[in-house]
Amino acid sequence: MAGRNFLFVPGPTNVPDRVTRAMMVAMEDHRSPIFPELALACLNGLKPIFKTTSGTPIVFPSSGTGCWEAALTNCLNTGDKVLASRFGQFSHLWVDMCQRLGFEVEVLETPWGEGAPVERYLAALAADNQHKIKAVLVCQNETATGVTSDVAAVRQGMDSVKHPALLFVDAVSALASIDFRMDEWGVDVCITGSQKGLMLPAGLGVTCVSPKALAAAKSATARRCYFDFGDMVQANASGYFPYTPALPMLYGLRESLAMLAEEGLENVFHRHTYLASGARAAVLEGWKLKLCAAAPKWYSDTVSAIMVPEGTNGAEVIAHAFKRYNLALGAGLSKVAGKLFRIGHLGDLNELMLLGAIAGAELAMLDVGVKIEPGSGVAAAQSYWRSHSPALQQSTAGKKAGIAA
Ligand SMILES: Cc1ncc(COP(=O)(O)O)c(C=O)c1O
Repeated sequence: MAGRNFLFVPGPTNVPDRVTRAMMVAMEDHRSPIFPELALACLNGLKPIFKTTSGTPIVFPSSGTGCWEAALTNCLNTGDKVLASRFGQFSHLWVDMCQRLGFEVEVLETPWGEGAPVERYLAALAADNQHKIKAVLVCQNETATGVTSDVAAVRQGMDSVKHPALLFVDAVSALASIDFRMDEWGVDVCITGSQKGLMLPAGLGVTCVSPKALAAAKSATARRCYFDFGDMVQANASGYFPYTPALPMLYGLRESLAMLAEEGLENVFHRHTYLASGARAAVLEGWKLKLCAAAPKWYSDTVSAIMVPEGTNGAEVIAHAFKRYNLALGAGLSKVAGKLFRIGHLGDLNELMLLGAIAGAELAMLDVGVKIEPGSGVAAAQSYWRSHSPALQQSTAGKKAGIAA
């Protein structure tokens, strides 16, 4: 097919040319005397992205899923109780992993489209006066439903009942796109992957571990080997890895961290809100469709999950968009299969790129019989962006205005 593929799944995201070029390197000895320069630039450069001074970033040659496993097996004893909520495919898979690894999970079942149920977390923690719950799990951005949760509020709930559990946060589709504050929110393990806000190919599991979690890891007895924090921290201290690192990915990471620093993290967050607000204008005002996210407070700035009307099939929209227009949209997963399609709007992105996805989704929907007004989504997004500033200081973020609402 002529022209380039439009990649609008919510990860992997578009890799900037600068990052691709930085990754085109000859292989090197990862035990050479100069290797630590690269490794330490990556590890130290990640700290501001996690907003931490006390946390320890760790990079595994894996994907985000590996870091889920690392958090659990390093900090807990098999059989320990954890508290989690389930409101989409990714929060589900993390619960499933806990169960498969032999942890006892108290699951707060939550309707898909809602976010982490803060009051119910608080109630469960308050009821746990013997402190059997050893870790609290929160998915900051549920990629399957386009829902962002309030991690700070979960931390406040834990503090209000003085609960000593560790706090693990899945920020896979949030970090470097939506605000995340490791130190301020008292997060003990934050989990992400390279292929989303960090604008890299898939292949790195990126995590950050608090001093409290590292201390827990020293005595925790769940079995682990490849994902052992201790081995990694020891080798990383001198800029090396306990096994062969994914060298080109580290070159790419150093470049993507430089790009994020040049733009400024707060500007990056603002750009995501601004672009997401345009996408939401297309969905809600233009196409007059619904988002899976049940209320504006949960609207995600990295992915919009768009409900297709009864009698139409989201999977058909996605297949047609791909085959006919070379546009990759995100699928409806599990419970919401066929009911929605997703537009990822995170990473290296601007208005015109996102207009391509909105126009393509519009074409595909019209072709498969979804009744929308031709051009309406594109017009609504354009109108939003023309009347709002992409610059941070003049922000009237759509989330607080009505697009989000
Ligand atoms: C919220 C969330 N958590 C976890 C994962 C799993 O990450 P990975 O596919 O990098 O293993 C994903 C993947 O998309 C995700 O979106």
